[in-house]
Amino acid sequence: MSDVLDTPTRITVTAERTYDVVVGRHLLGELPGLLGKNVAKVLIIHPESLEATAQAVREDLLEQGYEALLAVIPDAETAKSAEVLEFCWQILGQADFTRSDAIVSIGGGTATDLAGFVAATWLRGIAVVHIPTTLLAMVDAAVGGKTGINTAEGKNLVGAFHSPVGVLCDLAALETLPKWDLVAGLAEIIKIGFIQDPVILELIENRSDEFTRWPEVSDQMWSVLRELVERSIAVKAKVVSQDLREASLREILNYGHTFGHALEQVERYSWRHGAAVAVGMVYAAELARLAGRLGDEDVARHRAILKSVGLPTSYRGDKWKQLLSAMQRDKKTRGALLRFVVLDAIGSPSRLEGPDPTLLAAAYAEVSHDETSPSNAIAL
Ligand code: GLY
Repeated sequence: MSDVLDTPTRITVTAERTYDVVVGRHLLGELPGLLGKNVAKVLIIHPESLEATAQAVREDLLEQGYEALLAVIPDAETAKSAEVLEFCWQILGQADFTRSDAIVSIGGGTATDLAGFVAATWLRGIAVVHIPTTLLAMVDAAVGGKTGINTAEGKNLVGAFHSPVGVLCDLAALETLPKWDLVAGLAEIIKIGFIQDPVILELIENRSDEFTRWPEVSDQMWSVLRELVERSIAVKAKVVSQDLREASLREILNYGHTFGHALEQVERYSWRHGAAVAVGMVYAAELARLAGRLGDEDVARHRAILKSVGLPTSYRGDKWKQLLSAMQRDKKTRGALLRFVVLDAIGSPSRLEGPDPTLLAAAYAEVSHDETSPSNAIAL
Protein backbone atom coordinates (compact mmCIF):
# COMPACT_ATOMS: atom_id res chain seq x y z
CA MET A 1 0.00 0.00 0.00
CA SER A 2 1.42 3.37 -0.97
CA ASP A 3 2.62 5.87 1.67
CA VAL A 4 0.52 8.63 0.13
CA LEU A 5 -2.40 6.96 1.87
CA ASP A 6 -0.95 7.80 5.28
CA THR A 7 -2.29 11.34 5.65
CA PRO A 8 -5.40 11.01 7.78
CA THR A 9 -8.83 12.30 6.78
CA ARG A 10 -11.30 13.41 9.46
CA ILE A 11 -15.03 13.06 9.03
CA THR A 12 -17.08 14.73 11.73
CA VAL A 13 -20.30 13.31 13.14
CA THR A 14 -22.57 15.62 15.11
CA ALA A 15 -25.02 13.40 16.94
CA GLU A 16 -25.49 13.26 20.75
CA ARG A 17 -21.90 14.51 20.77
CA THR A 18 -19.50 15.66 18.08
CA TYR A 19 -16.78 13.21 17.21
CA ASP A 20 -14.29 12.48 14.45
CA VAL A 21 -13.97 9.35 12.36
CA VAL A 22 -10.30 9.31 11.32
CA VAL A 23 -9.39 7.36 8.17
CA GLY A 24 -5.76 6.68 7.24
CA ARG A 25 -2.89 4.43 8.21
CA HIS A 26 -0.85 3.97 11.39
CA LEU A 27 -3.34 5.96 13.43
CA LEU A 28 -2.39 4.89 16.96
CA GLY A 29 -0.95 8.32 17.68
CA GLU A 30 -4.48 9.69 17.26
CA LEU A 31 -5.94 7.65 20.14
CA PRO A 32 -4.98 9.89 23.11
CA GLY A 33 -6.46 12.90 21.32
CA LEU A 34 -9.77 11.07 20.88
CA LEU A 35 -9.84 9.75 24.46
CA GLY A 36 -9.38 13.25 25.87
CA LYS A 37 -7.34 14.56 28.77
CA ASN A 38 -9.31 13.30 31.78
CA VAL A 39 -9.20 9.56 31.07
CA ALA A 40 -6.94 7.59 33.42
CA LYS A 41 -7.93 3.96 32.71
CA VAL A 42 -8.79 2.23 29.46
CA LEU A 43 -10.32 -1.23 28.96
CA ILE A 44 -9.43 -2.59 25.52
CA ILE A 45 -12.09 -5.08 24.39
CA HIS A 46 -10.93 -7.34 21.56
CA PRO A 47 -11.44 -10.83 20.11
CA GLU A 48 -8.81 -13.48 20.69
CA SER A 49 -7.60 -13.31 17.08
CA LEU A 50 -6.55 -9.66 17.53
CA GLU A 51 -4.37 -10.25 20.59
CA ALA A 52 -1.24 -8.82 18.93
CA THR A 53 -2.99 -5.62 17.83
CA ALA A 54 -4.58 -5.20 21.25
CA GLN A 55 -1.19 -5.65 22.96
CA ALA A 56 0.33 -3.01 20.69
CA VAL A 57 -2.48 -0.57 21.55
CA ARG A 58 -2.06 -1.35 25.25
CA GLU A 59 1.69 -0.77 25.19
CA ASP A 60 1.19 2.51 23.39
CA LEU A 61 -1.37 3.65 25.96
CA LEU A 62 0.91 2.61 28.85
CA GLU A 63 3.71 4.68 27.32
CA GLN A 64 1.34 7.64 27.18
CA GLY A 65 0.70 7.27 30.92
CA TYR A 66 -2.70 5.54 30.85
CA GLU A 67 -3.54 2.45 32.88
CA ALA A 68 -4.64 -0.08 30.23
CA LEU A 69 -6.34 -3.47 30.66
CA LEU A 70 -7.39 -6.09 28.12
CA ALA A 71 -10.70 -7.98 27.91
CA VAL A 72 -10.64 -10.92 25.50
CA ILE A 73 -13.99 -11.79 23.96
CA PRO A 74 -14.96 -14.66 21.60
CA ASP A 75 -14.23 -14.16 17.91
CA ALA A 76 -17.73 -15.08 16.83
CA GLU A 77 -21.16 -13.44 17.10
CA THR A 78 -21.49 -15.32 20.46
CA ALA A 79 -19.49 -12.39 21.93
CA LYS A 80 -22.71 -10.35 21.77
CA SER A 81 -24.25 -12.09 24.77
CA ALA A 82 -25.36 -11.20 28.30
CA GLU A 83 -22.58 -13.47 29.68
CA VAL A 84 -19.81 -11.63 27.84
CA LEU A 85 -21.38 -8.30 28.80
CA GLU A 86 -21.31 -9.35 32.46
CA PHE A 87 -17.69 -10.50 32.11
CA CYS A 88 -16.74 -7.00 30.90
CA TRP A 89 -18.74 -5.32 33.71
CA GLN A 90 -16.84 -7.52 36.19
CA ILE A 91 -13.47 -6.29 34.91
CA LEU A 92 -14.65 -2.67 35.02
CA GLY A 93 -15.97 -3.12 38.57
CA GLN A 94 -12.88 -4.90 39.87
CA ALA A 95 -10.60 -2.24 38.34
CA ASP A 96 -12.73 0.63 39.75
CA PHE A 97 -13.55 2.25 36.40
CA THR A 98 -15.18 5.61 36.93
CA ARG A 99 -17.24 7.87 34.67
CA SER A 100 -14.08 9.56 33.44
CA ASP A 101 -12.46 6.31 32.25
CA ALA A 102 -12.96 4.76 28.83
CA ILE A 103 -13.31 1.70 26.63
CA VAL A 104 -11.54 0.99 23.36
CA SER A 105 -12.97 -1.65 21.03
CA ILE A 106 -10.84 -3.42 18.44
CA GLY A 107 -12.43 -5.75 15.89
CA GLY A 108 -15.38 -6.20 13.58
CA GLY A 109 -19.01 -5.25 14.16
CA THR A 110 -19.38 -7.84 16.91
CA ALA A 111 -16.66 -6.18 18.99
CA THR A 112 -17.86 -2.63 18.35
CA ASP A 113 -21.52 -3.53 19.13
CA LEU A 114 -20.63 -5.35 22.35
CA ALA A 115 -18.01 -2.85 23.57
CA GLY A 116 -20.30 0.03 22.69
CA PHE A 117 -23.04 -1.51 24.83
CA VAL A 118 -20.59 -2.13 27.71
CA ALA A 119 -19.71 1.58 27.50
CA ALA A 120 -23.38 2.60 27.25
CA THR A 121 -24.33 0.68 30.38
CA TRP A 122 -21.33 1.11 32.71
CA LEU A 123 -22.21 3.88 35.20
CA ARG A 124 -24.98 4.89 32.74
CA GLY A 125 -22.47 5.67 30.02
CA ILE A 126 -18.72 6.11 29.66
CA ALA A 127 -16.57 7.05 26.67
CA VAL A 128 -15.75 4.55 23.94
CA VAL A 129 -13.39 4.75 20.96
CA HIS A 130 -13.90 2.19 18.21
CA ILE A 131 -11.02 0.79 16.17
CA PRO A 132 -12.83 -1.26 13.49
CA THR A 133 -10.68 -3.81 11.68
CA THR A 134 -13.08 -5.00 8.95
CA LEU A 135 -14.42 -3.08 5.98
CA LEU A 136 -18.00 -3.70 7.16
CA ALA A 137 -17.33 -2.35 10.65
CA MET A 138 -15.50 0.72 9.26
CA VAL A 139 -18.38 1.79 7.03
CA ASP A 140 -21.27 0.65 9.21
CA ALA A 141 -21.12 -0.71 12.78
CA ALA A 142 -18.45 1.58 14.23
CA VAL A 143 -20.11 4.81 13.10
CA GLY A 144 -23.50 5.98 14.29
CA GLY A 145 -23.79 4.84 17.89
CA LYS A 146 -25.89 1.68 17.55
CA THR A 147 -24.76 -0.78 20.24
CA GLY A 148 -26.25 -4.01 21.53
CA ILE A 149 -26.26 -7.71 22.22
CA ASN A 150 -28.31 -10.70 21.07
CA THR A 151 -30.73 -12.71 23.21
CA ALA A 152 -32.47 -16.05 22.73
CA GLU A 153 -35.39 -14.11 21.24
CA GLY A 154 -33.36 -12.52 18.45
CA LYS A 155 -30.41 -10.47 17.26
CA ASN A 156 -29.84 -6.90 18.47
CA LEU A 157 -33.08 -6.81 20.46
CA VAL A 158 -31.27 -5.36 23.49
CA GLY A 159 -29.19 -2.26 22.92
CA ALA A 160 -28.75 1.47 23.19
CA PHE A 161 -27.77 4.43 21.07
CA HIS A 162 -24.39 5.43 22.47
CA SER A 163 -22.12 7.48 20.24
CA PRO A 164 -18.38 6.89 20.46
CA VAL A 165 -16.00 9.77 21.25
CA GLY A 166 -14.01 8.82 18.17
CA VAL A 167 -13.41 6.15 15.55
CA LEU A 168 -10.06 5.13 14.05
CA CYS A 169 -10.28 3.41 10.65
CA ASP A 170 -6.77 2.15 10.01
CA LEU A 171 -6.67 0.98 6.39
CA ALA A 172 -3.61 -1.15 7.17
CA ALA A 173 -5.99 -3.54 8.99
CA LEU A 174 -7.60 -4.32 5.62
CA GLU A 175 -4.36 -5.64 4.11
CA THR A 176 -4.99 -9.05 5.68
CA LEU A 177 -8.77 -9.03 5.25
CA PRO A 178 -10.06 -12.33 3.78
CA LYS A 179 -11.74 -11.95 0.39
CA TRP A 180 -15.25 -12.72 1.62
CA ASP A 181 -14.93 -10.13 4.36
CA LEU A 182 -14.06 -7.61 1.68
CA VAL A 183 -17.05 -8.70 -0.41
CA ALA A 184 -19.40 -8.56 2.61
CA GLY A 185 -18.21 -4.99 3.30
CA LEU A 186 -18.72 -4.03 -0.33
CA ALA A 187 -22.42 -4.95 -0.02
CA GLU A 188 -22.97 -2.16 2.54
CA ILE A 189 -20.83 0.25 0.49
CA ILE A 190 -22.93 -0.52 -2.61
CA LYS A 191 -26.04 0.08 -0.48
CA ILE A 192 -24.75 3.57 0.38
CA GLY A 193 -24.07 4.11 -3.33
CA PHE A 194 -27.65 3.26 -4.28
CA ILE A 195 -29.29 5.37 -1.58
CA GLN A 196 -27.09 8.49 -1.58
CA ASP A 197 -23.85 8.51 -3.55
CA PRO A 198 -23.86 7.13 -7.12
CA VAL A 199 -20.13 7.97 -7.49
CA ILE A 200 -19.56 4.93 -5.23
CA LEU A 201 -21.30 2.76 -7.83
CA GLU A 202 -19.13 4.15 -10.64
CA LEU A 203 -15.93 3.59 -8.64
CA ILE A 204 -16.88 -0.06 -8.12
CA GLU A 205 -18.18 -0.63 -11.65
CA ASN A 206 -14.89 0.65 -13.08
CA ARG A 207 -12.83 -1.69 -10.90
CA SER A 208 -14.90 -4.78 -10.20
CA ASP A 209 -12.28 -7.05 -11.85
CA GLU A 210 -9.66 -5.92 -9.42
CA PHE A 211 -11.90 -6.57 -6.44
CA THR A 212 -12.26 -10.19 -7.56
CA ARG A 213 -8.44 -10.53 -7.46
CA TRP A 214 -8.26 -9.42 -3.82
CA PRO A 215 -5.79 -9.28 -2.04
CA GLU A 216 -3.63 -8.88 -5.20
CA VAL A 217 -4.51 -5.24 -5.78
CA SER A 218 -2.59 -2.21 -7.02
CA ASP A 219 -1.72 0.97 -5.11
CA GLN A 220 -4.29 2.75 -7.24
CA MET A 221 -6.87 0.27 -6.04
CA TRP A 222 -5.99 1.10 -2.44
CA SER A 223 -6.76 4.73 -3.09
CA VAL A 224 -10.10 3.69 -4.62
CA LEU A 225 -10.84 1.59 -1.54
CA ARG A 226 -9.95 4.52 0.68
CA GLU A 227 -12.27 6.78 -1.32
CA LEU A 228 -15.06 4.19 -0.98
CA VAL A 229 -14.54 4.03 2.79
CA GLU A 230 -14.48 7.81 3.14
CA ARG A 231 -17.52 8.38 0.93
CA SER A 232 -19.51 5.71 2.78
CA ILE A 233 -18.59 7.14 6.18
CA ALA A 234 -19.38 10.66 4.99
CA VAL A 235 -22.92 9.57 4.02
CA LYS A 236 -23.42 7.71 7.28
CA ALA A 237 -22.07 10.70 9.25
CA LYS A 238 -24.52 13.02 7.50
CA VAL A 239 -27.49 10.70 8.06
CA VAL A 240 -26.84 9.95 11.74
CA SER A 241 -26.04 13.60 12.43
CA GLN A 242 -29.57 14.41 11.31
CA ASP A 243 -31.36 11.42 12.82
CA LEU A 244 -29.38 9.47 15.43
CA ARG A 245 -32.40 7.60 16.80
CA GLU A 246 -33.80 6.43 13.49
CA ALA A 247 -36.98 8.47 13.76
CA SER A 248 -37.08 8.91 10.00
CA LEU A 249 -34.06 9.64 7.73
CA ARG A 250 -31.77 6.97 9.25
CA GLU A 251 -34.19 4.32 8.00
CA ILE A 252 -32.67 4.74 4.53
CA LEU A 253 -29.60 2.88 5.85
CA ASN A 254 -31.87 -0.16 6.06
CA TYR A 255 -32.14 -0.40 2.27
CA GLY A 256 -32.22 -4.12 1.43
CA HIS A 257 -32.37 -5.04 5.11
CA THR A 258 -36.07 -5.95 5.54
CA PHE A 259 -35.81 -8.86 3.12
CA GLY A 260 -32.13 -9.39 4.03
CA HIS A 261 -32.83 -9.83 7.75
CA ALA A 262 -35.70 -12.21 6.96
CA LEU A 263 -33.39 -14.28 4.74
CA GLU A 264 -30.75 -14.39 7.49
CA GLN A 265 -33.37 -15.66 9.95
CA VAL A 266 -34.76 -18.28 7.59
CA GLU A 267 -31.20 -19.48 6.93
CA ARG A 268 -30.49 -19.50 10.70
CA TYR A 269 -27.70 -16.98 10.24
CA SER A 270 -25.61 -19.29 8.05
CA TRP A 271 -25.50 -16.54 5.37
CA ARG A 272 -23.16 -13.59 5.67
CA HIS A 273 -25.04 -10.35 6.43
CA GLY A 274 -23.64 -8.69 3.30
CA ALA A 275 -24.84 -11.54 1.08
CA ALA A 276 -28.35 -11.40 2.54
CA VAL A 277 -28.48 -7.60 2.13
CA ALA A 278 -27.34 -7.99 -1.50
CA VAL A 279 -30.37 -10.19 -2.31
CA GLY A 280 -32.49 -7.84 -0.17
CA MET A 281 -31.47 -4.87 -2.34
CA VAL A 282 -32.46 -6.72 -5.52
CA TYR A 283 -35.78 -7.58 -3.83
CA ALA A 284 -36.36 -3.92 -2.88
CA ALA A 285 -35.45 -2.83 -6.42
CA GLU A 286 -37.91 -5.33 -7.92
CA LEU A 287 -40.58 -4.18 -5.47
CA ALA A 288 -40.02 -0.57 -6.54
CA ARG A 289 -40.12 -1.55 -10.22
CA LEU A 290 -43.38 -3.48 -9.78
CA ALA A 291 -44.84 -0.51 -7.88
CA GLY A 292 -43.99 1.68 -10.89
CA ARG A 293 -41.31 3.65 -9.08
CA LEU A 294 -37.99 2.41 -10.46
CA GLY A 295 -36.96 1.75 -14.06
CA ASP A 296 -35.78 -1.58 -15.55
CA GLU A 297 -32.24 -0.24 -16.11
CA ASP A 298 -31.78 0.71 -12.49
CA VAL A 299 -32.92 -2.74 -11.38
CA ALA A 300 -30.52 -4.34 -13.86
CA ARG A 301 -27.74 -2.14 -12.43
CA HIS A 302 -28.40 -3.63 -8.98
CA ARG A 303 -27.90 -7.16 -10.29
CA ALA A 304 -24.86 -6.26 -12.40
CA ILE A 305 -22.83 -4.45 -9.73
CA LEU A 306 -23.57 -6.99 -6.99
CA LYS A 307 -22.69 -9.93 -9.26
CA SER A 308 -19.54 -8.20 -10.47
CA VAL A 309 -18.00 -8.29 -6.98
CA GLY A 310 -19.23 -11.83 -6.27
CA LEU A 311 -22.39 -11.10 -4.26
CA PRO A 312 -25.56 -13.18 -4.71
CA THR A 313 -28.64 -11.67 -6.35
CA SER A 314 -31.19 -14.48 -5.97
CA TYR A 315 -32.52 -16.91 -3.38
CA ARG A 316 -34.35 -20.23 -3.36
CA GLY A 317 -37.99 -19.99 -4.42
CA ASP A 318 -39.67 -22.20 -1.82
CA LYS A 319 -39.41 -20.04 1.32
CA TRP A 320 -42.03 -17.33 0.83
CA LYS A 321 -44.20 -18.20 3.86
CA GLN A 322 -41.21 -18.16 6.22
CA LEU A 323 -39.73 -15.01 4.69
CA LEU A 324 -43.01 -13.12 4.90
CA SER A 325 -43.56 -14.03 8.52
CA ALA A 326 -39.97 -13.09 9.38
CA MET A 327 -40.43 -9.71 7.65
CA GLN A 328 -43.64 -9.15 9.61
CA ARG A 329 -41.73 -9.76 12.87
CA ASP A 330 -38.87 -7.45 11.87
CA LYS A 331 -38.10 -4.92 14.57
CA LYS A 332 -38.03 -2.19 11.98
CA THR A 333 -41.69 -2.77 11.21
CA ARG A 334 -43.82 -0.19 13.02
CA GLY A 335 -47.37 -1.13 13.94
CA ALA A 336 -48.92 -3.71 11.67
CA LEU A 337 -47.63 -2.24 8.41
CA LEU A 338 -44.69 -3.74 6.55
CA ARG A 339 -42.32 -0.95 5.53
CA PHE A 340 -39.62 -1.01 2.90
CA VAL A 341 -36.99 1.48 1.90
CA VAL A 342 -37.23 1.67 -1.89
CA LEU A 343 -35.70 3.90 -4.55
CA ASP A 344 -37.60 6.30 -6.78
CA ALA A 345 -34.31 6.69 -8.65
CA ILE A 346 -30.70 5.93 -7.84
CA GLY A 347 -29.73 8.24 -4.97
CA SER A 348 -33.36 9.00 -4.17
CA PRO A 349 -34.72 6.73 -1.42
CA SER A 350 -38.27 6.76 -0.14
CA ARG A 351 -40.61 4.53 1.82
CA LEU A 352 -43.12 1.94 0.66
CA GLU A 353 -45.63 1.18 3.42
CA GLY A 354 -48.05 -1.73 3.49
CA PRO A 355 -47.54 -2.89 -0.11
CA ASP A 356 -50.14 -5.21 -1.58
CA PRO A 357 -49.35 -8.89 -0.72
CA THR A 358 -49.45 -9.81 -4.41
CA LEU A 359 -46.74 -7.21 -5.10
CA LEU A 360 -44.58 -8.65 -2.31
CA ALA A 361 -44.96 -12.17 -3.68
CA ALA A 362 -44.32 -11.00 -7.26
CA ALA A 363 -41.04 -9.33 -6.19
CA TYR A 364 -40.04 -12.60 -4.49
CA ALA A 365 -40.70 -14.47 -7.74
CA GLU A 366 -38.28 -12.07 -9.46
CA VAL A 367 -35.43 -12.89 -7.02
CA SER A 368 -36.17 -16.62 -6.81
CA HIS A 369 -34.14 -19.38 -8.33
CA ASP A 370 -34.79 -23.11 -8.38
CA GLU A 371 -34.20 -24.40 -4.81
CA THR A 372 -32.06 -27.23 -6.12
CA SER A 373 -29.56 -24.93 -7.85
CA PRO A 374 -26.48 -24.18 -5.75
CA SER A 375 -26.50 -20.85 -3.98
CA ASN A 376 -23.56 -18.57 -4.66
CA ALA A 377 -23.87 -17.35 -1.08
CA ILE A 378 -22.57 -20.60 0.36
CA ALA A 379 -18.98 -19.49 -0.21
CA LEU A 380 -19.71 -16.26 1.63
N1 GLY B 1 -26.66 -0.23 10.15
C1 GLY B 1 -27.69 0.72 9.99
C2 GLY B 1 -27.58 1.87 10.93
O1 GLY B 1 -26.55 2.08 11.54
O2 GLY B 1 -28.54 2.56 11.09
